[in-house]
Amino acid sequence: MADARRAARQRIESLQRAGVTGVRKSRGVQKAAPAAKTPGGEKGKSAAKPPATSQPTEAIAPVAKAVETTIAAAPPLDNAADRNAALNLIREKVVHCTRCKELCTTRTQTVFGVGNPMTRLVFLGEAPGADEDKQGEPFVGRAGQLLDKIIEACTLKREQIYILNILKCRPPGNRNPEPDEAANCREYLEGQLDIIRPDFICCLGAVAARNLLQTEVPISKLRGKLQTWRGVQVMCTYHPAYLLRNPAAKRDVWEDMKTLMRAMGVDVDKKGS
Ligand code: URA
Repeated sequence: MADARRAARQRIESLQRAGVTGVRKSRGVQKAAPAAKTPGGEKGKSAAKPPATSQPTEAIAPVAKAVETTIAAAPPLDNAADRNAALNLIREKVVHCTRCKELCTTRTQTVFGVGNPMTRLVFLGEAPGADEDKQGEPFVGRAGQLLDKIIEACTLKREQIYILNILKCRPPGNRNPEPDEAANCREYLEGQLDIIRPDFICCLGAVAARNLLQTEVPISKLRGKLQTWRGVQVMCTYHPAYLLRNPAAKRDVWEDMKTLMRAMGVDVDKKGS
């Protein structure tokens, strides 16, 4: 019940952030407002790319201050320019980060994250691989191409969502992130999520799921139903790289994505698996 009330309050706040007026907060659970036409994109708007020419407003000032402390405490930013400016403040810290003694010497470059900062849906991966390390963008290799197909099957486009990783640097040889590396990067991840304030997060693979949710529960048990993290609805599913090795698991991932899309109000039920 408390979860439902929190979800309803978040939905109202997200509609208000998107400029929808006439939405009243009530003490009971308010019926969810009709889904926006492009639920994967900007809240309540069509999923246009962030306007490249618009300038951040003065709303960014408290966030800039909070980047040094706790972003969650800063007021929410309600437009793409402000959110991109705030994200760039964190990006700047990430570019120069030397917290992980090994990774900061082995990386070609950091891989911050990419996408629409006004999105309702964030995909969270593990860490950059060789292709991402080279190109500076998450999920651009073979696993990324499969992720693009998954996104497309959900009737969404990559530009409508945001993609980031637990780690911003490639672990040598694509080994799993060490716990201290994930802890070092946590502040950046939470900063990004505090700025974007998604309604939904899709964790790709065990490393993403277990790090975000801080649990030892195996991915096979986490997947299939929505979890919650700080009031955000979280779907955990298998990593696209795992699907490349185990194509039979694609069926499970498609079930997970349908559950997620239903929760978002996106109609994918008529599509095949
Ligand atoms: N795998 C991930 O988890 N993230 C990437 O960015 C690429 C591959």
